Amino acid sequence: MPEFATPYSGTTLDRPMTKQELIRAIRYAIAAEYEAIQLYMQIAEAADDELATAVLKDIAEEEVVHAGEFLTLLTHLAPEEKQLYDEGAGEVREMMEKLGIEHEAA
Ligand SMILES: [Fe+2]
Repeated sequence: MPEFATPYSGTTLDRPMTKQELIRAIRYAIAAEYEAIQLYMQIAEAADDELATAVLKDIAEEEVVHAGEFLTLLTHLAPEEKQLYDEGAGEVREMMEKLGIEHEAA
């Protein structure tokens, strides 16, 4: 079990992560948040219990917040990726313009 006094206890590393390892771990954490959202929404939509559905949808929404936190952390750790995200966003905005779909200007 991890211990508070030894921050790397419980990990498979016997040293601090490198920056690239941290970036990969954060990407994995983002994927885990989206997987959790999918799982909780699937259960919420399948459940025949009003409270369980409400709790699961509430937690799913919190996971979206967590994903946002991790995405912000990732773009801080890997600012070069932000340029690529912006490039992708620009490509979608171009498609939206071609299709006559309104969008917010970046
Ligand atoms: Fe989370």
